[in-house]
Amino acid sequence: MTTTPGRVRLRRTRATPAMRRLLAETRLHPAELVLPVFVREGLTEPRPITSMPGVVQHTRDSLKRAVADAAAAGLGGVMLFAIPTVRDAVGSQATEPDGILNLVIADAVAEAGDALVVQADLCLDEFTDHGHCGVLTPTGAVDNDATLVRYADMARAQAAAGAHLVGLSGMMDGQTAVVRDALDDAGHHDVALLAYAAKYASAFYGPFREAVESQLEGDRRTYQMDPANRREAAREVAIDIAEGADVVMVKPAMSYLDVLADVAATSTVPVAAYQVSGEYAMIEAAAANGWIERRRAILESVLSIRRAGADHVLTYYATELAGWLAEET
Ligand code: PBG
Repeated sequence: MTTTPGRVRLRRTRATPAMRRLLAETRLHPAELVLPVFVREGLTEPRPITSMPGVVQHTRDSLKRAVADAAAAGLGGVMLFAIPTVRDAVGSQATEPDGILNLVIADAVAEAGDALVVQADLCLDEFTDHGHCGVLTPTGAVDNDATLVRYADMARAQAAAGAHLVGLSGMMDGQTAVVRDALDDAGHHDVALLAYAAKYASAFYGPFREAVESQLEGDRRTYQMDPANRREAAREVAIDIAEGADVVMVKPAMSYLDVLADVAATSTVPVAAYQVSGEYAMIEAAAANGWIERRRAILESVLSIRRAGADHVLTYYATELAGWLAEET
């Protein structure tokens, strides 16, 4: 038996590059890309991150150049992470005005503050000697409410340094409300909040732990979400929006596109997604072996995150990808 497609032939919609271009449902634009960057206190040369080929721990100077490049590429923003030389139980360096993260926030704002949304990671894990995202109880559990006090201080310090947006990545209950109140009380009404609302306890953060020289032993399963849970993400998002989130995020991205699609369908605020370090590392490793075509894989991965519903994407490929987009047009 032979079948014929009759009048309906979808291949005509794919027949030429011009037709495919016209009919594409999703497009990438540099303004929808945010570059995460790492700076390490005390470095004199940028230091490669072994598990993230092509990504480095910056010096303060090389970070300024990366920020300038991001602005020249037309990116939407940069997300700053910093590694201090001194760590302690409460992450003191996170709240010192001359702590490394607060210094580089000011550097980035001075370099490209008109062109980019300068964003800072608001979390204690880079600053604590135990590597958890909060302070600990005497028995070693992460103390939610004591951590909120530290986050409020950290938010004020980051806002004072000039941050346009703070990224709440700690997954403590109540963090969005506490940080919003702290910023408003200090007069920082214009500093926006990105809530990492649906952030999962993921193996795909592995290379990031090298990037920030994490001291963590164990895992973050008592505060980050269980990868088994989809419906719970809707609760996290609703709570963060009610507490004042200006943007909500789903993280990681590629293994959570179902969650991202759910959130995008119901959120009343813009939705971001984070293509995390492990996603980057997988693409790089496979490409280095010649097993996948690097550029196509990168474009497809970020396109899929946009297609699933992300309004913008945090990706270590942001500047490079923006360069390719410029070539195409
Ligand atoms: C917490 C934070 C992490 C990442 C971003 N913010 C690490 C974690 O939650 O363990 C991971 C990002 C990545 O893997 O690229 N400060």
